[in-house]
Amino acid sequence: MTLPSAAGPVNILRGVDLVVEAGEAVGIVGPSGSGKTSLLMVLAGLERATAGSVRVAGHELSRMNEDALARLRRDSIGIIFQAFYLIPTMTALENVSVPLELAGRADAAERAAESLRAVGLAHRLTHLPGQLSGGEQQRVALARAFAPEPALLLADEPTGNLDHATGAAVMDLLFQLRERTGTTLLLITHDQALAARCERRVHIVDGRVAEPVPA
Ligand SMILES: Nc1ncnc2c1ncn2[C@@H]1O[C@H](COP(=O)(O)OP(=O)(O)OP(=O)(O)O)[C@@H](O)[C@H]1O
Ligand SMILES: [Mg+2]
Repeated sequence: MTLPSAAGPVNILRGVDLVVEAGEAVGIVGPSGSGKTSLLMVLAGLERATAGSVRVAGHELSRMNEDALARLRRDSIGIIFQAFYLIPTMTALENVSVPLELAGRADAAERAAESLRAVGLAHRLTHLPGQLSGGEQQRVALARAFAPEPALLLADEPTGNLDHATGAAVMDLLFQLRERTGTTLLLITHDQALAARCERRVHIVDGRVAEPVPA
């Protein structure tokens, strides 16, 4: 995959050949700048690959227009980034329920409240993101990502902004939710111990899948 930049096109992914089975949890590790986030962006349909085939939940992304990609994300893909990307003017409940409403779910509010309960935030439904701790904000982001029961969850250093104990609690929650829902998980992490909690680890080096990392 090549991305345009002011300095000219940058060749980022050079033939990542990777198949992830439904329900599998895969830890993506590799040096800074190796292309992990780029891979996630391509899988989410947020960046387009210039060559090759990217299939998610049976859909060939290169053949889909932006609207179709947005629908696929809405219906099938949850994304969690290091930064929480909550909407600051919306309460925790609204941050989780509005995407469900946009997806046409009649039970958006109840489902959102249930999802926030599952991450231990039943008592914070009407708080704005600015009134929540970092760990709580990431738990709202987790609730938002899991609420639509996506087939695929993409997580990019989801605990990178949290202290160790808070990060560990958020990761426990993520693995719990994943177990409960059977969601396929791609977890990008610098933390080998976290990667080891996934059934399989994939090592990205210089835009390519490198030798398997020993467990
Ligand atoms: N939009 C862009 N335009 C041009 N180059 C980019 C763009 N996004 C990323 N890159 C370059 O692509 C390479 C891979 O970046 P990427 O963000 O995927 O790395 P990463 O493995 O996620 O690193 P980190 O562990 O530091 O997050 C880097 O050299 C980066 O500078
Ligand atoms: Mg990255």
